[in-house]
Amino acid sequence: MDTAASFLSTLTSAISNCALYSREHPSIDEFARKGLVLLQKLFGESDNFDIMIIDDDLVINKKSFKGIGLQTTNLVKRIKRKGLARIEFLPGVTFKELRTFIPEILEVGKKIPDFPHIKTGVIDIRTEEAVKDEDVNSGESMTFLSQQLETMREIYKEILQLRRIGINTVNGVMENMVSAVSEKTNVLGALGYAHSREEFAYVHATNVSILSIFQMKSLGIGDRILLRDIGLAGLLHDIGKLYISQEALAKKKELTEEDWQEIHLHPFYGARVLSSLDGLPPLCAIVSFQHHMRYDGQGYPQTVSPMKQHICSQVVAIADCFDALRSMRPYRKGLEMKEVFAMMRRDSSHAFNPFLLKHFIQRLYKTL
Ligand SMILES: [Fe+2]
Ligand SMILES: [Fe+2]
Repeated sequence: MDTAASFLSTLTSAISNCALYSREHPSIDEFARKGLVLLQKLFGESDNFDIMIIDDDLVINKKSFKGIGLQTTNLVKRIKRKGLARIEFLPGVTFKELRTFIPEILEVGKKIPDFPHIKTGVIDIRTEEAVKDEDVNSGESMTFLSQQLETMREIYKEILQLRRIGINTVNGVMENMVSAVSEKTNVLGALGYAHSREEFAYVHATNVSILSIFQMKSLGIGDRILLRDIGLAGLLHDIGKLYISQEALAKKKELTEEDWQEIHLHPFYGARVLSSLDGLPPLCAIVSFQHHMRYDGQGYPQTVSPMKQHICSQVVAIADCFDALRSMRPYRKGLEMKEVFAMMRRDSSHAFNPFLLKHFIQRLYKTL
């Protein structure tokens, strides 16, 4: 277990012991001591240790965190019940501060006292911030971005033809993409349009990739590796379509029950092929498997025990649906795009994570 996971596990155990025994129980002293040692180790790696909760997911130092299984769920529940969405530990934190802070988490309805080195509060995500007009049309960066998108489309065409993924090449291009996209990018202006069914696969894949990176960057989530990985996951999300009946896929109407069953298999095939490839981040298979699942647990594939969508799958699902709807209504500034937003909003909280969708729409709206 890495240091961050050990610290979270220690914190969870300390809080649980407080609930089980009492605020004064000696085991809490032990956990606080151990927690402090782990925090000091963590401060050697970064300036702070930041716990955020987005929906029901833990985001640690701006990276999605899945590390401690059931304990993660317990910790998220405890913090949410306390009404907190963020806890930040700063260098200089003392045993006394940590020891006093732990039982405070359990005191629901009571304001948490001020600690010099432990900050608490709501998530600092910039959903309302305006994008200035002069920022969204920077010519040079748009040219660079268009070039990267063109290269990605070429690479994806090759993947479709050869059914082989050159991991190093894809990683390199994706890293350029991550540099080229910022929260101020006029992302709508960069998206491509497919003029035929053949083109749709690679134009859609690259659009979903850029829209996913854009969402993560504008939310302020993810380091370069996670951004690169979600870009890759977006690019490869529909790769399973290569392994299903092309006849069913090509049909525009009158799809039979069998056709739908066939089409609904593509997330499964995608996950299977992507998890078998060395060098690809596991996120690619996860996102491919989950991109047609819905926020309310519906969608497909259905699993034997309920599976919650990974936050990155939720991001890609929004990008995927947006690009599919937008392709049905060729982009013109104004009403058509607003119509797409309205359609997605109608599905908010059923199909999509409502927080992520609201953020996505707000950001794109600024570029209309
Ligand atoms: Fe799909
Ligand atoms: Fe798709």
